[in-house]
Amino acid sequence: MKFLLIEDEDEIRELIRFNIELEPGTHVYEARNGTDAVELLQKLKDVDVIICDYQMPGMNGGQVQKYVVNQNLPCKFVLSSAYDVETLPDVNPNKLYLAIKKPDISEGLTILFDMLKKDNIGDRDTIAEPAAYHTVAVSLIYKTGVCPCDLYLELNKDKILKILNQGEMFSDEDYVKYTGKKLTKFLIKNEDGAHCSKTIERNISVLFKNLTDEEVEKAVDVQDYIHDTVKRFGLNDDVINIAKEGVDYAVSIIRNNKNLKKLLKNIFTNQRDFIPQHSVALAFISCAVASKMQWNSEPTMVKLAFASLIHDVFIDSPKLNETEEVQKSEKNKDFMNHTIECSTTLSKNPDVPPDVDKIILEHHEQPDGSGFPKGIDHMKISPLSSLFIISHQIVEIAMDLKMKGEMLTDEKVKARINKEKYQKGNFKKVFSSIDDLKLFGE
Ligand SMILES: [Fe+2]
Ligand SMILES: [Fe+2]
Repeated sequence: MKFLLIEDEDEIRELIRFNIELEPGTHVYEARNGTDAVELLQKLKDVDVIICDYQMPGMNGGQVQKYVVNQNLPCKFVLSSAYDVETLPDVNPNKLYLAIKKPDISEGLTILFDMLKKDNIGDRDTIAEPAAYHTVAVSLIYKTGVCPCDLYLELNKDKILKILNQGEMFSDEDYVKYTGKKLTKFLIKNEDGAHCSKTIERNISVLFKNLTDEEVEKAVDVQDYIHDTVKRFGLNDDVINIAKEGVDYAVSIIRNNKNLKKLLKNIFTNQRDFIPQHSVALAFISCAVASKMQWNSEPTMVKLAFASLIHDVFIDSPKLNETEEVQKSEKNKDFMNHTIECSTTLSKNPDVPPDVDKIILEHHEQPDGSGFPKGIDHMKISPLSSLFIISHQIVEIAMDLKMKGEMLTDEKVKARINKEKYQKGNFKKVFSSIDDLKLFGE
């Protein structure tokens, strides 16, 4: 049975591929995006099943589905996404063979294989024997951090050698050692397949788990992870990719008019590290303010949510709030540099949307010029940064009220905002728009 797997995230693609190949008699073609997939589909005539991600650069999964339907291709189309298919633009739920809900990939594939058997799809004349060994990507083991089962290497056609034992840690050094030797796959025994797949899935899906739930706790978990990873490895591509997931989540919530008050209430109720909580709240609030001002084009919301999730990742004391940091900032050079450090790193990354670095650079500036790092005033601070600065202040006040055990209401938050300060330039417009914005309370 021939599969075409379309997925831009390397680990997810490897994981799905690994799961498919555990089934005897399967073959997997791969594409990293919709455009490549369409090109492949024009050449390949033997694809039985397409498994397609939704969120990808260029064409989304719905647009790929449209192509398959319009061309009348005889293959089954399966969508794999963390979102409910009904909420996804361009997707026709009636023409889906199955929707696999991420991160429960192996469960989804088990259902898929049952359906395919029942429907007699694929070449059933030759019943394939299960292979003695399967391959698993080194990168998947690395992401898992531990060997999910015994791992083997094929030295030559007749010799297979066990190199790592189940339960052993798989460290950064191991990763460098094996990939340095150009090794991309390990072998595992057939009987370990199911267990191995479950363990990998459990470990790498922490990042995607229940992102569609109304439980923001999970978004804060992701943010926790982002903060932790930046501390250990710097602001690398992995972090930026994970931030993108959080951005999609925040933007889709606001656009779908989900219950924002309830979400914010959840964020502020739980006892968590300051920065992750603060960043997730800021993503929701800045998008809500933008929406109120009708600056709610998708790119603008994405910029704001992105800046929110990343803006303070270089602050080293996640338990401290920024007002306290500012107070002791004379001595705290690291804190004074967190805007510059972050925006400089982001400006070098082509995957980060434009303006995000600027918003982050300016997020501690003030309309009266009393902020940092540059001390620019309302004339120089960009409109989006102005919106961000006001939203940031709302979040700080809200978190402070919560910390003091006070009731959180819109009135209380507004009473503490210095109104005079925001009567200038771009700030004035943003400030007047939040006047009747309802964020807190029952
Ligand atoms: Fe900050
Ligand atoms: Fe902040």
